[in-house]
Amino acid sequence: MPYELVVVANRLPVDLTLGPDGSLSWSRSPGGLVSALEPVMREADGAWIGWSGTADLESEPFDADGMHLVPVCLTTDEVEEYYEGFANDTLWPLSHDVISPPVYHRHWWETYRRVNRRFATEAARHAAPGAVVWVHDYQLQLVPAILRELRPDVRIGYFHHIPFPPLEIFAQLPWRRQVVEGLLGADLVGFQRSGDAANFVRVVRRFTDLTTRGPLVAVPGPDGTERQVRASAFPISIDSGRFDALARTQAVRDRAAEIRASLGDPQVMLLGVDRLDYTKGIRHRIKAFGELLAEGRLRVPEAVLVQVASPSRQNVEAYQQLREEVELLVGRINGEHGTIGAVPISYLHHSYPPEEMAALYLAADVMLVTSLRDGMNLVAKEFVAACVDDRGVLVLSEFTGAADELAGALLVNPHDIDGLKDAVERAARMDPREMRSRMRKLRRRVMSDDVRRWSQTFLRTLEAAPREPLA
Ligand code: G6P
Repeated sequence: MPYELVVVANRLPVDLTLGPDGSLSWSRSPGGLVSALEPVMREADGAWIGWSGTADLESEPFDADGMHLVPVCLTTDEVEEYYEGFANDTLWPLSHDVISPPVYHRHWWETYRRVNRRFATEAARHAAPGAVVWVHDYQLQLVPAILRELRPDVRIGYFHHIPFPPLEIFAQLPWRRQVVEGLLGADLVGFQRSGDAANFVRVVRRFTDLTTRGPLVAVPGPDGTERQVRASAFPISIDSGRFDALARTQAVRDRAAEIRASLGDPQVMLLGVDRLDYTKGIRHRIKAFGELLAEGRLRVPEAVLVQVASPSRQNVEAYQQLREEVELLVGRINGEHGTIGAVPISYLHHSYPPEEMAALYLAADVMLVTSLRDGMNLVAKEFVAACVDDRGVLVLSEFTGAADELAGALLVNPHDIDGLKDAVERAARMDPREMRSRMRKLRRRVMSDDVRRWSQTFLRTLEAAPREPLA
């Protein structure tokens, strides 16, 4: 059955697993994109095309939580070359200021092309005549152009969740022109920040012969026609109401009190929550905390740090190396500054359900977001949404998309360890009046800028996108 709205993303909104008896089961994956799209998907009777998260798993389309899901099967080699390789060892570091050196392999590129074609073919198969197809993120940058070739009748939107690199860095990519042409298959190309959209338009001007005017690119179509592609910013948000509501439940409030008690009721609980990724500045933050302890500017057990580092992309070497480094550093600081019963850093290599996250946010006094580069950073927004008592300070890296929006945070350059230490100390000692006024400002922004509004704004802009030639 064809669908009026088709979402195409690397991952399905559920994780599929194969039981020992060969039966398939799914569990909801808690990503932000699901909550953003679920209401529009239900309303529009939409389908979601994506990978199950497990290699070599074949499955027919099925319904889950009122959504139609179409699994795309990836073989073990494809997971290695398309997902771990080209997506996460080439494009990811290239898009994040080459913090880790991007690896360029021609066979990874070939697999990326093949897998992108598979996603586009599935989208073409499931889209109704004139449907809207919304493609997500850097894993699928070739899908828009392939899909347009297969189905010129559909409207295609693409959203890039991560930073779009400056021209000088993007230029390294051996397949830069093909990637740009892939994206230009869309009618609307969305980015987190206006700076990302501007980088993209510069790259279009440099690597294609196309004409641009402001955010519009004129792309020749069949038979001498011309269509316009718009590139602009749509900063993503979170399901703010959900975190706010969770943080008001008695169960979460009790759990927050329990967390503080088990840490020895510190005066200052610092919190970091990240995927264990080299873009997040986890080492910079831990180093700053260690030096504050060494200098006696913070003391254990009055001040403690809880660092949640959820496992991520564990087969990629750069992630394995990061884990070693972080764990070494945590061990060293805990060894130097801990005493029996008082541990400076509680390091948790796990991921937790939203209830536990809300309790951690509510328990924390200071949230540390020190990314070296980050498309948006949703954790910063989740923290703010959970601070229902207007208590808590957000220390936020200026290299996140969120920094463009979140006035009220203490902005830091995480490379400047001394500046970072000053900001952490200032946050830890902030007087309650300043804290409240900053948090109120943050909450006004986050509570009004909900992710549903984000998806509606994107889809409305896509539906209104002009298709006539540039004047
Ligand atoms: C970032 C990307 C997403 C990705 C997520 C988790 O937020 O923008 O596309 O899904 O990280 O990474 P993973 O590799 O586990 O899907």
